[in-house]
Amino acid sequence: MNGKQAAGERALDYIEDGMVVGLGTGSTVFYFLQALSKKVAEGLQVTGVVTSIQTAKLAEELNIPLMDLNDVKVIDVCVDGADEIYTESGHIYGIKGGGGALLFEKLVAETAKMRIWIADDAKVVSHLGAFGLPVEVVQFGYMQVFQQLTAKGYAPKQRLNEDDTPYTTDSGNYLLDLQFEPITDPISLATELKMMTGVVEHGLFNDITEVTIIADATGSAMVTE
Ligand code: 5RP
Repeated sequence: MNGKQAAGERALDYIEDGMVVGLGTGSTVFYFLQALSKKVAEGLQVTGVVTSIQTAKLAEELNIPLMDLNDVKVIDVCVDGADEIYTESGHIYGIKGGGGALLFEKLVAETAKMRIWIADDAKVVSHLGAFGLPVEVVQFGYMQVFQQLTAKGYAPKQRLNEDDTPYTTDSGNYLLDLQFEPITDPISLATELKMMTGVVEHGLFNDITEVTIIADATGSAMVTE
């Protein structure tokens, strides 16, 4: 048992028969999907809405029934991981997109009635920004956006694959990872990034999560609602 597994399995407590469940992306969600799949095999009826091609493949392998985001009326609960989690005055802020799925993850999360983040305790931070903030940009003219971000002092680095070719998201966009230490005002930064032409989405998830399940290496999980 590790923290990611403990957090992923604990999220099952929130899943009820008949629910439509947003399925996040990443190594922590992997454990949630495995646990969910066992319940489905035992008769639990759920429908998943995926946030990436990676999760779609995994959910199909695990026999979790899926539905397209276009076809759902409501998502009851969305379970996803995070790269950094910061809590202040009861508000939960985070950085997501380490796995490149931030756009679909935000779309699914914003459709859900309840959002749960699952993570090991290494993801909890005293301020955001040590993790590079992913910004998804259209390919056309992306170097112009890169230069604007550089001029703002945000030190973008284009995400690359292992063979040094540009990483592309499931939507065919590029990712620029911004360097901050720290992010002092995630709300105004989110607005600023969103307003830049060529930016499709950014990895700041400000106050769109209600529950966090954080577990440590002993498997002990702390739930905050
Ligand atoms: C993918 C994400 C993931 O949720 C995030 O990167 C956490 O991943 P992991 O559970 O593997 O640490 O935002 O885009």
